[in-house]
Amino acid sequence: MRKNIVAGNWKMNNDLSETETLIRELKLQNNPSDVEVMVAPSFTNLWQAFNTLKDHSIEVIAQNMHFADSGAYTGEVSAPMLKSLGIKTVILGHSERRAYFNETDDILAKKVDTALKNELRVIFCFGEELKDRKAENHETVVGNQIKNALFHLDASALNNIVLAYEPVWAIGTGETASPEQAQDMHAFIRKTLASKYGDDFANEVSILYGGSVKPSNAKEIFSKPDVDGGLIGGAALNAEDFFAIANAF
Ligand code: G3P
Repeated sequence: MRKNIVAGNWKMNNDLSETETLIRELKLQNNPSDVEVMVAPSFTNLWQAFNTLKDHSIEVIAQNMHFADSGAYTGEVSAPMLKSLGIKTVILGHSERRAYFNETDDILAKKVDTALKNELRVIFCFGEELKDRKAENHETVVGNQIKNALFHLDASALNNIVLAYEPVWAIGTGETASPEQAQDMHAFIRKTLASKYGDDFANEVSILYGGSVKPSNAKEIFSKPDVDGGLIGGAALNAEDFFAIANAF
């Protein structure tokens, strides 16, 4: 079901003490009732974060997971391990995973299958690089990322999916996509979904924007008809900024 969502991707930031401090500050903020608010700490802090927030309306989610449920994958974390902590949502396909850890569309299709099989909600990330946008190839790139990782699935399997469009050139750069650029791409994404699964399904999928969302630009971006919220990086590390964004609808 389509909802307004603001998720904070902490990436590789905050040790245990810093996690406890940030969570204490997050709990003091005004949590909007009509927005699903989530935070994604690193694996080492998931249990502490989950237990500290389990009676609060902020959901603790994972930044990644492996495509196998168990096995000889040193250093990896599985969906069953996340579920055993009480985690119900996982981010997959982040551009940093694609770039630094060679996560291909095929690997991501396997991760999506495993997450959905384990009844985890997936926030599936994708987005073009600057060279693609300059070449006006961004819709082809994004369309292929979505089709290659998701279109092998039936609509019923995708009920637990949230999409996150994150133009790589906007991540961590301060170069936020304009609200019009975000809306154009989100409308294209919804049209792409509709081409396979029909309008009714496409109109029920939450599509988040990520890439230098700040308190100063969130309201205009979130006001666009096909933008259902944001996946927030740097600004999520400051409790006041993060909730200024969560309250920007
Ligand atoms: O996953 C969200 C992240 O990639 C966006 O980062 O710092 O540009 O908000 P940032």
